[in-house]
Amino acid sequence: MTALTVTNTFPASLTAECLVIGVARGPEGPVPVLGAAAVEEAVVGALTDLLTTLGATGAEGETVRLPAPPGIGAGLVLAVGLGDADDGGYDDEALRRAAGVAARDLAGAGRVALALPTPTADAVEAVALGALLGSYTFTAYRTDDGPAAVRELTILADDPRSHAGALRRADVLGEEVNRARDLINTPANDLYPESFAAAVAAAGRTYGLAVEVYDEEALAAGGFGGILGVGQGSVRAPRLVRIAHTHAGATARLAFVGKGITYDSGGISLKPVGANEIMKRDMSGAAAVLAAVLAVARLDLPVDVTGWLALAENMPSGSALRPGDVLRTYGGRTVEVLNTDAEGRLVLADALVRAGEEQPDAIVDVATLTAAMRFGLGNHVFGVMANDDAFRDRVVAAARAAGEQAWPMPLPAELRRSLNSRVADIANFGERMGGGLVAGLFLREFVPAGVPWAHLDIAGPAFNEGQPHGYTPDGGTGCAVRTLVRLAQDTAIGGLR
Ligand code: BES
Ligand code: MN
Ligand code: ZN
Repeated sequence: MTALTVTNTFPASLTAECLVIGVARGPEGPVPVLGAAAVEEAVVGALTDLLTTLGATGAEGETVRLPAPPGIGAGLVLAVGLGDADDGGYDDEALRRAAGVAARDLAGAGRVALALPTPTADAVEAVALGALLGSYTFTAYRTDDGPAAVRELTILADDPRSHAGALRRADVLGEEVNRARDLINTPANDLYPESFAAAVAAAGRTYGLAVEVYDEEALAAGGFGGILGVGQGSVRAPRLVRIAHTHAGATARLAFVGKGITYDSGGISLKPVGANEIMKRDMSGAAAVLAAVLAVARLDLPVDVTGWLALAENMPSGSALRPGDVLRTYGGRTVEVLNTDAEGRLVLADALVRAGEEQPDAIVDVATLTAAMRFGLGNHVFGVMANDDAFRDRVVAAARAAGEQAWPMPLPAELRRSLNSRVADIANFGERMGGGLVAGLFLREFVPAGVPWAHLDIAGPAFNEGQPHGYTPDGGTGCAVRTLVRLAQDTAIGGLR
């Protein structure tokens, strides 16, 4: 894990391998941006000439390496593009991305100093978080050396002691987002409901949170027909896990519910080759919920947050759920399973009802729920549906503030009738057009009346199948962790109404 510090060391006294600076796109060429660190005009002048010679433009995400000019205690300077020059400063997301690009570009380095603009504590936090997220590597399954993360990162900022809180927040958030990424990237032969539950229990012990695991017997005794139904085709039995952070000063209680399908083959409604290779990702919602609850706890936010992880492996077998089977979900409502590949909503139905029993002030579920959401919003934006427009907008605002891209989606009443079943209270499969919204309409039925609820469909952005960018690696991204933590933070400060 990368170690992070803040210092106001003069650049000449650094002992780093590399100094990272920003470079913006100015009207007359690249403009070095050296932040709060004290760097003499002469150095800036020399850098400008060098950057121009080397063809730097300052475009967002661009990296240019140059030998450090005299007066900088590092061998190398890495200039990271910040986009258009802005006298008013760079927004937190631009700083996170630039720091992430730098950390990734310098993988394998020992000591790196970051001199990106850090005029405020928020900017320091953004640079720190971007650097921690950008230095993420997943090497658990490599026997060769593999990619190594930067070992030590130092952020240059004035008055470093005033930034202890910012650094701590970035550290916790960075570690927890990276925890979610690790869980998502872990293949399904090692991460299955029982081992996932054990990982939650271990983390709960480390940070002093109460963890309760419902094994298959407890699920049967409680009547959790959705989770049991989805899990019955697998030799790996399902689990429901509850992890709770409570705070003596809390005035609001949130419930986070995560879809934790450790592998989604589709079941008897089997997915074709081409659609099943990375279905280990289908527990990304549960990973996000776990990471968010742990982050909230480690930051000791004055808000009660309970996480519910609905864990099952969706497999075809002689004991698997059949299309046409009827399940009795927790609380008694029946569901006709017309498509076993629409399994996420079945496990979430149980978990939503169970979470609702504790009468939280709001419920948020997170799920890689539908391919339809990817068609609608692509792989960088998640959809937010809700039973309450004001709450939906709060969640979207929390995402924006946290630097995640979310977009409000409707729940059109007309689509509900496509879920009518001939034999049961509801079917799990309906109209294909607007399939993401149909799934949202299904889930809404399992939320207790009067409780604000939002549903985050992260099927697109949960897993990066393309090239790394900004602070986002390939593979598991940790999508939604920061949004949930931000929502908890907002709730701790201002309550829910
Ligand atoms: N886990 C999938 C959705 C998914 C697809 C997530 C691709 C990430 C990448 C989900 O369980 C699923 O199979 N959904 C079906 C629902 C349909 C059968 C109603 C879908 O979207 O096709
Ligand atoms: Mn599925
Ligand atoms: Zn699924």
